[in-house]
Amino acid sequence: MQLKNCHNVSDFRKLAKRKIPSPLFHYIDGGADDEHTLAHNSTAFDGYDLIPNGLADVTNVDLTTSILGQKVSSPIILAPTGMSRLFHHDGENATSKAAEKFGQYFSLSTLSSVSIEDIGAHISSPKMFQIYIHKDRGLTYELIERCKAAKFTALCLTIDTIVAGNRERDLRTGMVMPPRFTPSSLLSFAMRPKWVMNYLTHSAFSLANLESQIGSSGKENISVIEYINSQFDTNLCWEDAEKAIEAWGGPFAIKGVMSVEDAKRAVDVGASAIMISNHGGRQLDFSPAPFDILPEIVDAVGGKIEIICDGGVRRSSHVLKALALGANACSIGRPYLYGLAAGGQAGVEAVLGKFHDELKRNMMLMGLNRLSQLNATKVRKRC
Ligand SMILES: Cc1cc2nc3c(=O)[nH]c(=O)nc-3n(C[C@H](O)[C@H](O)[C@H](O)COP(=O)(O)O)c2cc1C
Repeated sequence: MQLKNCHNVSDFRKLAKRKIPSPLFHYIDGGADDEHTLAHNSTAFDGYDLIPNGLADVTNVDLTTSILGQKVSSPIILAPTGMSRLFHHDGENATSKAAEKFGQYFSLSTLSSVSIEDIGAHISSPKMFQIYIHKDRGLTYELIERCKAAKFTALCLTIDTIVAGNRERDLRTGMVMPPRFTPSSLLSFAMRPKWVMNYLTHSAFSLANLESQIGSSGKENISVIEYINSQFDTNLCWEDAEKAIEAWGGPFAIKGVMSVEDAKRAVDVGASAIMISNHGGRQLDFSPAPFDILPEIVDAVGGKIEIICDGGVRRSSHVLKALALGANACSIGRPYLYGLAAGGQAGVEAVLGKFHDELKRNMMLMGLNRLSQLNATKVRKRC
C-alpha cells in the first residue's frame, strides 16, 4: 500500500500502522480505559444527516473563513499533538509546512519535538501554541513570552490533562519517550527497519520546548503518563486561565471544554474561543462526544465566543454537520498524524488534500457556496 492508494483516513491509518513500530502507532491510535469515548467521538456524527438543495449555482465555492482573528483557507485546524518526531523524522516541521501549504491553522503542542522558535522561523501562516501549565509556573510565562517573540498568532490552554488518562495500550507496549529498545519491544522496532534507520540518522528526539524540565526529571526515558503526573499542576483553576489570557494579550482558546458551565466560564474570563474537546478520547472515558454536546454549548454561548469542535472528525461531512449546528471550525488530530506516519509531509498533505476536496465536493452537492450558509436547516437528526 502507498500514499496514492489512500482514499480516506482509514486508509492512511492502515498505512501508518505498517510504517511505524507498534508502540508508536498505538500511542497515536489509542484512547483511555475501554476507549468508549474514542469510538463514540466519530460515531456521534452518524446521528445527523445532511440536507442538500439543488439548482443553486455552485460554480464558485469559497471555503475560506476566519479563526481566532486569522483568515484561513479552511475551517479545519490541525490540533496540537505532542512528540511528532517519533512518528516521522521531520516531525512538526512536516506537519506545519503542510498546514502552511494548504493555508490552514496549525497548532504546536507544549510537548512538541520542534521548538517554538524553529516553528516561528519555519512557517509564516497562522499558528497557535498550546500550553500545559506546569508546577513551575514561571515556565508558563516563559513559554508565552517565547511565543510572542516567535510571532505565534494565538494561544490555547488545555484544561483536560490535570492527570494523565489511563491509556492501557501504552502500558502494554511500554511506550516511553525517547523510545527504548527493550527485549519486549525489540521485535516491533526490528520489524520497521526503515523507521529505525531514519530515527537514528536524523536529529535526536527531544521535547524541544522543555529540555530543562526533562533534564530535571532525573530519568533518561520517561513515559508520557509519568511526565504529566510529575510535572503538570493539579492546582490549576480559572484564575490561572485568566492570568494566562492577560499575559498573552491576544487571541486565546480554552481547549477541553466539555460542559455548558465551563463554556460560560470561558466567556467570563475573556477567552476568544473554546475547543469542545475530550482530548480525542485519551483522558476521561465516557465523557460525551464533542459533536453531541455542541448544540447545548452553542445555545449557551454561541455568538459570544468562537466554538471549535475537536475530536472524531474523519470526513468533511463531519465538519459540515458541526458547522451547521453552530461550530465556527473543527480540528483534527489523528487524521494528520496518520498521514505523517504514513509518509511525512507528503502524507500530511495527502490527508489535508482529501479533506479539502471532500469539503468542496460536499458543499457543491449540498448546493452551498459559502460556509456561512450552513445552519440548522442543513442537517436533520435521525429518528
Ligand atoms: C498522539 C496525540 C498526541 C496529542 N497531544 C496533545 C497535546 O500535546 N496537547 C493537547 O492539547 N492535545 C493533544 N492531543 C489531542 C489533540 O489535540 C486533539 O484534541 C485530538 O487528537 C482530537 O481528536 P482526533 O484525534 O479524533 O481528531 C493529542 C492527540 C494525539 C492523538
